[in-house]
Amino acid sequence: DDDLCVLGVESSCDETAVSVVRKRGGQVEVLSSVIHSQIAAHAVYGGVVPEIAARSHVETIDDLCRRALAEAKTKGFDEAELDAVAATAGPGLIGGVMVGLSFAKGFALARGLPLIGVNHLEGHALSPLLAEPVAFPYLLLLVSGGHCQLLNVRGVGDYQRLGTTIDDAAGEAFDKIAKVLGLGYPGGPALEKCAAEGDATRFTLPRALLGRKDCDFSFSGLKTAAAKVATDHVKTPQDRADLCASVQAAIARQLCERSERAMTAFEAGDKRPAFVVAGGVAANKTVRAELTKLADKHGFRFVAPPMAYCTDNAAMIALAGLERFSLMDADQRSDMLGSMATV
Ligand code: KG4
Ligand code: ZN
Repeated sequence: DDDLCVLGVESSCDETAVSVVRKRGGQVEVLSSVIHSQIAAHAVYGGVVPEIAARSHVETIDDLCRRALAEAKTKGFDEAELDAVAATAGPGLIGGVMVGLSFAKGFALARGLPLIGVNHLEGHALSPLLAEPVAFPYLLLLVSGGHCQLLNVRGVGDYQRLGTTIDDAAGEAFDKIAKVLGLGYPGGPALEKCAAEGDATRFTLPRALLGRKDCDFSFSGLKTAAAKVATDHVKTPQDRADLCASVQAAIARQLCERSERAMTAFEAGDKRPAFVVAGGVAANKTVRAELTKLADKHGFRFVAPPMAYCTDNAAMIALAGLERFSLMDADQRSDMLGSMATV
């Protein structure tokens, strides 16, 4: 296990982030993780506007990088320690991805360091390792505004996708239904707050893909049904709270049903595997409580990374880059310098 230190850059959606992560003696240390959230800039439009996002990344990334380096230095880091630079190379909003990747490329070229393009989802998949050691294989439920997936994380670079959404992501469903109910953006936290006063049994909402045996998700039917209930039955604040509670329960139930299928098929030998929940929706208390119960029932250890690592951040990108880099031999590493022009 050699010691490695990587600077990570994330800019694929509405967060600009830079981080320095070091791995020493097998132990992961996040030396800095700075994030600029653009939520306020997009809130007036009720969702992320790609052009505004890209411009904001341009304006903030240089300063964020300086801050990330400065903060790491307060923990004894020296810039000469850097072994590589990692940046999200997709998937995401292309304007933003280009800003972060180009910045990282310039930074790497100026210092003669290799550049590693990281898949954003690989970052999420490895994010629990920023906080604590988790043994492979583990089951990961990624529930954010852009993604809804179940993955078997067998090792670095070894991921088996067990299920994904065929339409909206779970966070997107929260956001869109909240918008119909006039709850503002981002809708997830607002809907959860409203649901606290509601009766989850008041409205019966459809259960998606009931006949299917796979681990895929679908939320568009729920969205349509909720919009219809909103028009036909929501007259008072109590009606609205009841609908929010019913929607939240329906989303939690679907996440549990699919996760349960994945757990049943999951092979971890005689080890007690971890069930990791990452992404913004993991902040939802109802969702979290239901998934915790489910994990207990099936003998999984429930792991929810700290929210700062669950939502978009650059530490997970730095770590994914670092782990990739550590698997390369000397020849492959020196090739990374040459290949930088094409990333
Ligand atoms: O992971 P994330 O910060 O960003 C990406 O999508 O990349 O996730 C944001 C999503 C949004 O859709 C937001 O509404 C949802 O997570 N979310 C929640 C809660 N907090 C954030 N959904 C339900 N309940 C919450 N408390
Ligand atoms: Zn993400």
